[in-house]
Amino acid sequence: MAAFWKSKSEPQPESLILPQHVGIIMDGNGRWAKKRGLPRKAGHTEGARTFRKIARYCSEIGIKYLTVYAFSTENWKRPEDEVGALMKLFDSYLKEAISDFKDDDIVVRFIGDKSSFSPELQALMIENEECSKDRDGMVLNIAMNYGSRDEIVRAVKNICSDVQNGKITEEQISEQLVSDYLYTAGQPDPDLIIRPSGEYRISNFMLWQSAYTEFVIMNKLWPDFQKSDMDEALRIYSQRNRRYGGV
Ligand code: FPP
Repeated sequence: MAAFWKSKSEPQPESLILPQHVGIIMDGNGRWAKKRGLPRKAGHTEGARTFRKIARYCSEIGIKYLTVYAFSTENWKRPEDEVGALMKLFDSYLKEAISDFKDDDIVVRFIGDKSSFSPELQALMIENEECSKDRDGMVLNIAMNYGSRDEIVRAVKNICSDVQNGKITEEQISEQLVSDYLYTAGQPDPDLIIRPSGEYRISNFMLWQSAYTEFVIMNKLWPDFQKSDMDEALRIYSQRNRRYGGV
């Protein structure tokens, strides 16, 4: 169990503020493999293990929403064998995930455009969502074929068509309404986004939702990321003074 944060059944130390929603850009798998003279796909396999461990840990300590960036709309440009290896990994992982997250009471959701994946993978994504939807633990958003610009373009198109068909009026368009047309509709914006591997980039991840998000960049490659690194990122967040544009 947590060395630093308590289990969700106990109150957290008073001086610490746990974020409600955490986003993670799981970066550095390729470099991790290269450092060891292994193919990039070995880094993704290890990254998947880290993902499972950290997702469980977040649920244990009482994070309400976790969004992980697993595959971007731009990742299709990678060499065919790397994309193939990632698809295989998603397939085997999503098969296990159906029972895997049951004990943790985790609700699994996918954000992104499912339609580009194989019919088998799409069916697994839907099955994961269906069988976990009535749980009341942490919501885990897995971003797959996700790009934030694409998400915003889709929202704009859907808003236009709903104005045209009379479902909403132009006057009703507000920041809240735009949020309600995104994949994350109904969820709070991320309080904290963690990027391991030392890169200072947002990489098309939750652009609208991260207007007031705190960023923590960690100098660890994702496959090396431990629960203690999560503790550290959360501790840094807890010390930030969030002003939302005020003073
Ligand atoms: C970025 O590292 C990582 C990815 C594009 C893939 C992330 C996927 C996983 C961690 C697999 C687990 C996910 C699930 C849902 C099973 P990179 O390859 O760009 O690393 P580099 O910058 O070092 O090259």
